[in-house]
Order: sequence, then C-alpha cells, then structure tokens
Amino acid sequence: MEGIKLRVSNIEKSFPGVKALSNINFSVRAGTVHVLCGENGAGKSTLMKIINGVYKPDKGTVFIDEKPVIINNPIQAREHGISMIFQELNYIPELTVEESLFVGRLPVNKWGKVDWKQVRRETMQLLDEEGLHYSPTTRMKDLSVSDVQMLEILKAISYRSEIIIMDEPTSAITQKEVELLFKKIEKLKKNGASIIYISHKMDEIFRIADEITILRDGSVIDTRSRDDISIDEVITLMVGRELSKEFPKDQVELGETVFEAKGLTRKGYFEDVSFHVRKREIVGFAGLMGAGRTEVMRAIFGLDPYSSGTIYKDGKEIKSKTVHGCIDNGVVMLSEDRRRYGIIPIRGVRENVTLANLKKFFYKGRLHARKELMFVKNICEQMNVKTPSYETSVDSLSGGNQQKVVLAKWMINDPDILIMDEPTRGIDVGAKREIYKLMNSFVSSDKAIIIVSSELPELLGMCDRIYVMSKGRIAGVLERKDFTQEAVMKMATGVSMEEEVNEN
Ligand SMILES: Nc1ncnc2c1ncn2[C@@H]1O[C@H](COP(=O)(O)OP(=O)(O)OP(=O)(O)O)[C@@H](O)[C@H]1O
Ligand SMILES: [Mg+2]
Repeated sequence: MEGIKLRVSNIEKSFPGVKALSNINFSVRAGTVHVLCGENGAGKSTLMKIINGVYKPDKGTVFIDEKPVIINNPIQAREHGISMIFQELNYIPELTVEESLFVGRLPVNKWGKVDWKQVRRETMQLLDEEGLHYSPTTRMKDLSVSDVQMLEILKAISYRSEIIIMDEPTSAITQKEVELLFKKIEKLKKNGASIIYISHKMDEIFRIADEITILRDGSVIDTRSRDDISIDEVITLMVGRELSKEFPKDQVELGETVFEAKGLTRKGYFEDVSFHVRKREIVGFAGLMGAGRTEVMRAIFGLDPYSSGTIYKDGKEIKSKTVHGCIDNGVVMLSEDRRRYGIIPIRGVRENVTLANLKKFFYKGRLHARKELMFVKNICEQMNVKTPSYETSVDSLSGGNQQKVVLAKWMINDPDILIMDEPTRGIDVGAKREIYKLMNSFVSSDKAIIIVSSELPELLGMCDRIYVMSKGRIAGVLERKDFTQEAVMKMATGVSMEEEVNEN
C-alpha cells in the first residue's frame, strides 16, 4: 500500500449554534480515491474546507507527507499541492471562460502586463485536452449548469495538485461527462495523486472508491476498504438506522387530466412537445442532459419564451406566459440550479421559505409574524431541515439542506401542479426518502407532479408514466407496467429497436 499523503488529527470545528466536527481523524493514501459519505449536514464539506484553508479549525492538525502544515487560505492550500472543487457553484457571471479559469493567477509578461495571448493558448490547450468544446470568450452566465461544473473540474485539475478534493462534482453534469471525469480520475491516480471524493450516489462511490469513510453528525463512524463494505452497510452507517423502501411509491387511482401541453415549440430548443398529466399522477421526464427537458419546463413556467403551442390547466388555456400567471394558475416549478433561481443565500431560512408567498401572512396590511413562523416551523420539521434557527442564513446550511429549503418554499405555496427539476440532486439517501414521501402525500390530495430527473432509478421508482425526450422532442412515453431502464435509454438515445436490428 502506498504511503499516507494527507492526514488530519483531532480536528474540531464549531459554528454559532452547531458543532460541525468533533475529534476527526482521517487519512488519505497517495494514488488512491478516498470517498467521504454522510447525510446532509454531517460535516463533509466543512472538513474539506478546513483542509483547503477556507475555514480554520478550532482544534487539530493537518499533516501533508506526515509534516504538520498550517493552511490559512485556498492559495496556501494550492502551494501545498491541494485544490478543491466546491459543492456550490461559485462563479462570477460576467467573467469569460478564460478569465474564470485563470482568475487569481493571470500570467504577466516581462512588461508587467497580463499576457492574454498565453491565457488564450493555455485555455485552448486545457479545453482541448479534456475534450470540451466551448469558446474561451463565452461569459459564464451564458453557460449551462453542467458546463459551469465541468469548468470547475477542469480548473481544479489544471493546478496539477497532488491532493484534489471533489465535493459532489457530478451533481450537475451529463453521464458522458461523468465518464470523462472518471477516466481523468483514473489517470490522476496513476500519476500518484490523492483524490478525496464526496458523493451521495452509491453507484458512483462503489465504482471509484479505494477507501470509504463515513461521517455522521460531525464524527467519523468508520473507514473501510471498498471491498470490505456493501452499499447497505454504508447507508446504515450513514443514517444510523435501517431505512424504509428505497422508493416508497403509493399506488393511486389516477383522475382526469389536469394539465396539458400541446405542440409547444421554441425553435432551437424543443419542438412540438405535447403531454398531459392526470390528477394524482406523478409524471416523469427522462432523457439525456441537453434533451430539452429543463427548457420545456422553464418555458411552461414563464421563465423562457416559446413561439407556439398551448398550455391547459383544468381544460382551460393558460394565456399568461409569465411566472406570475403560472403561479396564479396553481402551477409552480422547483428549479434545477438552486443558487441561480431558488434562494437568496444571504437571507434566513424563514424569509426564503415565505418569500414567494408573503401575502398569505398579511392581515389588514400587517405581517402576522407568529403565523408565518408556525408555517415555516411546520414545513421545515416535515422535511427535516437541519438548521440552528429559522433566522440562520441559507448560505450557512449544508448543500442538501439548502435544497430542502427551496422545496419548502414551494410547498408553502400550495400549488396544484408541482414541476420539479432534479429535486433530489445533492440530497442524502434518508432525506430523499422524505421527499418521495412528500411527493406521495402531495399527489394524494388530487394534485399532480411533473418531475425531471437524471436519476433513472428515481423515475422508475416513483412515476406513474414517463415521457422520454430526445433532441428537443418527445421520443416516447411509457406506462409504469412497461418501465425498464433499457426501454427508457433506447428512446433517450434515439436508437430504435429496428435500427439496432438492422445494424446487427
Ligand atoms: N459557514 C457556516 N456557518 C454556519 N454553519 C455552517 C457553515 N458551514 C456549515 N455549517 C453547518 O455545519 C454543519 C455541517 O455542514 P456541511 O456543509 O459540512 O455538511 P455536508 O456533510 O457537506 O452536507 P451536504 O451533504 O448537505 O453537503 C451543518 O449543520 C451546517 O449547517
Ligand atoms: Mg456538503
């Protein structure tokens, strides 16, 4: 076995109102992938941010090559050969791709000016090496979530660090990009790098891990070699109890059609998209990333325009093409990138939850604060949101708990149709189940859900029907009794049975 590259000993860290880490001992070998697992709020990101110099530990020591080091900020971390991909996408929207890659380390020429030619050359080379095809001059705000995430990965790798921390790197990228990343990780390993990898996706974890450490409530529960532990054991150690069925879907009697889209088209994005949703139904949208699912939902919700087509709610046309019009008609959407569209990070949990529906709590022109708080408390308890208080800024919650706040925000709105785009992204296994149960109870009161997800097992487990999109069109629809992974993938990739037969 290779030697220990990184070790932390007796690390402690508290934030106001929470002990995030207590007495953490943990080490990573050279040339291996060490996976860190744990529920939302377990302390994974906090530990990584300590290693990367974002936070200072209250106690404890970090060792590199068995020598104690003090890391005060991410720049020093890089000098020690550490780089990190952060869980929350933090980028400056106005910067271009090349500026964003080189911010903080722009090369200067002999006259002390930024050498933009070199920046361009190195950017092109990096993009090329990784097989990515975007222009160095595109602005970050014009990139999709998955492109931004790929750039973050690229940036971390470009420092040629010996220790690379990846905090949920695949939460927003396509399957193809995941494969690219995994190949890259293999290469980095071969060159002797140590990778610390955080993920909630068990299949990924078991594919790439050499060792697995499980954190729970700020403590290390166990470290095991991948071959000495099963998925079920990891989950049980993470949550500290046995879990209910993975997909607790209730059987429901479907009612009449409550929502319908006919011939929706936005040239260059999606074409002739028609579908319907019935009362008590959970309808899934599957497809590869880029198939146009999010674009359709955004258009329906009034975030983007569409050039033709009609939307009906309870048989009546929704004429308004604005977000407000949509909400007034009882249709709301939970968006894909919570930081872009979902929350105001510097504001508190309470404010974020009630923001979209404050008028509910106004009486004779005054805010009924007690009623507001009751509502927030109720919904947050139902969803098991871990927060020191309801005034805590959402920014300081763990990633998964931020996602739950976004969900809570829309639940309070009491919509009839809930559109959920990647609702369980970044959410731990226990909380996922809470969300599935919420979905069940939501539709049981004559409502309906449209869910876009890249996690096929989730769609297969929770939906009554699945529409599959490919290249901006509906490629087909499946009833629950016909659900299989293969059937969905065939439609999604546009390879029909006949074509396959012809090829053989
Ligand atoms: N900047 C901060 N200020 C206050 N509290 C914080 C801050 N960062 C983290 N915490 C708290 O520390 C605890 C651990 O959070 P952390 O982000 O490390 O969890 P995590 O394991 O990464 O979870 P997730 O899977 O949701 O990303 C949580 O209770 C969180 O609310
Ligand atoms: Mg985290």
